Amino acid sequence: MTSPDTTKLDFEKIRADFPILEREVKPGVPLIYLDSTASSQKPRQVIDAMTAYYELQNANVHRGVHALSEEATEAYEGARQRIADFINAASAQEIIYTRNTTESINLVAFSWGRSNLTKGDVIVLTEMEHHSNIVPWQMLAAELDLRLEFIPVTEDGLLEMEEYHKLLELKPKIVAFAHMSNVLGTINPAKEIIELAHSAGAITVVDAAQSVPHFAVDIQDLDADFYAFSGHKMLGPTGIGILYGKKDLLKAMPPFLGGGDMIKRVELRSFIANELPHKFEAGTPAIAEAIGLGAAVDYLNEVGMDAIFAHEAQLTEYALERLEEVPGVWLFGPSADKKGGVASFTFEGVHPHDVSEILDRSGVAVRAGHHCAMPLHNKFNINATARASFYLYNTESDVDRLIEGLYKVKEVYG
Ligand code: ALA
Repeated sequence: MTSPDTTKLDFEKIRADFPILEREVKPGVPLIYLDSTASSQKPRQVIDAMTAYYELQNANVHRGVHALSEEATEAYEGARQRIADFINAASAQEIIYTRNTTESINLVAFSWGRSNLTKGDVIVLTEMEHHSNIVPWQMLAAELDLRLEFIPVTEDGLLEMEEYHKLLELKPKIVAFAHMSNVLGTINPAKEIIELAHSAGAITVVDAAQSVPHFAVDIQDLDADFYAFSGHKMLGPTGIGILYGKKDLLKAMPPFLGGGDMIKRVELRSFIANELPHKFEAGTPAIAEAIGLGAAVDYLNEVGMDAIFAHEAQLTEYALERLEEVPGVWLFGPSADKKGGVASFTFEGVHPHDVSEILDRSGVAVRAGHHCAMPLHNKFNINATARASFYLYNTESDVDRLIEGLYKVKEVYG
């Protein structure tokens, strides 16, 4: 791997770390993986860390005083500390293990929302949200009779900040938004949105599923109240996610799920909740997955988040330029300088599923559909897009294969 301060990635080394990138999707057709926004591939270091846990340390955490349990607990809690450091959280107590971004946001809605909101309160969201940052708020709004408002998205895929200013006059209790859109790739001005929300008296909940994997985040500088992300999009395994929350807020919140580990003491008719972060982690957790996520963070640190971001920016610029050359391709989202490594597009006269199917014949994996963002697609009067997304292991030659594949789509559908 390259050292953290270089801006060029050592592809040969990086690609060799990802066993799956060596496979062919069918004989003679190598895999070109352009779907990391849905789920990233995993380096051997992550797979090995999880295997090592199962082969050498497998035991439950926080429960035994035997060697295996102590080692497992150390590995599990060590990963938490490294994840806290990765986003510069003030304390590992602010890092709650969940299953994924979706569960993290549901936790905030259920716990903070139910104990702090009442009839008529306003929650501000944006039109570019993923379902995981819409539906939990819809459910809460239906239960407590709350009002949902949305910051509109421009034709270019940016937030209409003037409209946001107007919505803040409603004195919302929560502003919840994606740091980076999974469809448009837009990197939203998170610090400004948070500052404005705070000055209007709102707390902020940030869907960070697409930001944390792709660029350096300093959560103390950002000052978000809650920040939610998933392991599997940042080289880690599925089944593990993170909710960062400010300690004072988390301390004041009631638990989410009840059971073992989240308690300090239980009587027949009552319980005393555990300290942070365990108060929000009921039952045996995803131990191997947390350890795997710790290894993913180590890997990302070693490559360097600035180098990863610079690489993706360059690749995105190249991809957008090349996609614009293809007759019939219509791109969504802002220009390359305002977005991360995501290119969503439609192809005139061809359904995105058919585009994806033809690309798959050449080994090119893209996602087609609404990408769990139906309201955003409705806004643009379309049902679906095809989406190519990039990560540290993608190269310009992957983009070239995508473009070649799109010319084949043209040949087939004329
Ligand atoms: N949110 C993931 C995606 O955008 C699943 O594909």
